[in-house]
Amino acid sequence: MSETPTKYSFGMIGLGTMGRNLLLNIADHGFAVAGYDKSQKQVDLLREESEGKAVEGFSDPEAFVQSIATPRAIMMLVPAGPIVDAVIVEMQQYLSPGDILIDGGNSHFTDTERRATSLEKVGLHFFGMGVSGGEEGARFGPSMMPGGDREAYKVMQPVFEAIAAKVDGAPCVAYMGPGAAGHYVKMVHNGIEYGLMELIAETYGVMKNGLGMDNEAIRQTFTKWNEGRLQCYLVDITKDIFAYKAPDTDHLLLDDIRDEARSKGTGKWTSQSAMDVALPIPTIDNAVSMRDLSKFKALREQLAALYLPVASPLSGDKEELLRQLEEALYFSMVVTYAQGMHLLASASKDLKYDLQLATIAKIWRGGCIIRSVFLNDIFNAFEQNKELEHLLLDPNVQKQVTSVLPGARTVVGAAVAAGMAVPAFSASLSYFEALRTARLPSNLIQAQRDYFGAHTYELIGHEGVFHTQWTPKHEDATFKKGAQVEEEPQSQQPVTPNK
Ligand code: 6PG
Repeated sequence: MSETPTKYSFGMIGLGTMGRNLLLNIADHGFAVAGYDKSQKQVDLLREESEGKAVEGFSDPEAFVQSIATPRAIMMLVPAGPIVDAVIVEMQQYLSPGDILIDGGNSHFTDTERRATSLEKVGLHFFGMGVSGGEEGARFGPSMMPGGDREAYKVMQPVFEAIAAKVDGAPCVAYMGPGAAGHYVKMVHNGIEYGLMELIAETYGVMKNGLGMDNEAIRQTFTKWNEGRLQCYLVDITKDIFAYKAPDTDHLLLDDIRDEARSKGTGKWTSQSAMDVALPIPTIDNAVSMRDLSKFKALREQLAALYLPVASPLSGDKEELLRQLEEALYFSMVVTYAQGMHLLASASKDLKYDLQLATIAKIWRGGCIIRSVFLNDIFNAFEQNKELEHLLLDPNVQKQVTSVLPGARTVVGAAVAAGMAVPAFSASLSYFEALRTARLPSNLIQAQRDYFGAHTYELIGHEGVFHTQWTPKHEDATFKKGAQVEEEPQSQQPVTPNK
């Protein structure tokens, strides 16, 4: 470092690549900063990378905390889970009331709620902040989703606005809401990330196995698509992956990589939370399931040998199918974002986060993994109509979706007919078809539940709930037991709902 300030204005706990890069980013914007890691190796790395900057590294927690000006502002970037709690316990020994502690990792929102409540009791300002953009984002401009203690955020705002990615001059950071709102929004961001990644992977599968395209043709196609409405970070990196050769070979590294996808759990949390608030996000659910399914490699190999033939090429004009595949991908991506936004709106009410969907779309336009040109349309939709119930109701989105719907239907139909798995594509299409259906066959489910369990049903044009004795009384012993047969059977009897 060039010169030692008496006190540093910001501290970072956890000097992995993300922590170091974020710290260097903050230092580049004129702030004197300190970093702490138990591992001396990480501290040395920080020192090496920060030559000439107002940055200092510590492996002693007390010296680190004492080096920061009070009230202190300290961020943790450590793996989610028990490590975060352990770091908090360690830091609490040295922190003073009024200090600000930020969790910049991918913590589960319920952990963040718990930590905020317990730290508030000891006078510490705690807030959870989702940080997206990977290593490069952290170094040159991430998208950040802070939530929790608003006053504490206001103190940090100038720093975060300085280091965030910018789109049309606007920083990709904004206060999300109270409690764990920041981590909740980041979790849903990751759920959308899972959905988009699975869709791109399925697109690759269709290109390769359904349309017989080689890697170079796939690279060219993704490159071309990334210049149009599909332009987004994930398609952009995909085209690069299709250009990257395994060291000292003339084939793609991609072809050497196992087809078993890993995950750290944020996609699963999104699905779990969606189930908790009874809000459908089937594309994201399928993306999570497909990562899990992919891990059953040995089982897949056994079944592949058992159920022949393997998927056949798609029937139809290949060029036309490729054009429709672009439509299908765009359609499904729009639906994935729509599911994520719908979940945010619903959970916001349940958890009292008061999330502003336009603001969220705005800060996702740059820096983060799901950034895309389509986020401008999402931003416009929720900006123009703050009460918009669902993205698919927006007139501009409606126009776009209508134009690509035929392609989505053709591709899903052709892939299914060819014996190819396209679960995220299918889920996106079925979600859409169901949601635009004014009368679903769900009346039958109501009737079945009432039949076997006297769970009651509702009637069109009538208030209240009803129960019917669906078969003659005492006719069948099994039925009697399950249906709680009443003394005086009536064909349609209003009842109090079952508890
Ligand atoms: C981001 C990413 C990041 C996430 C990785 C890995 O926004 O920068 O979402 O936070 O940790 O993408 O996630 P999985 O291991 O669950 O795929």
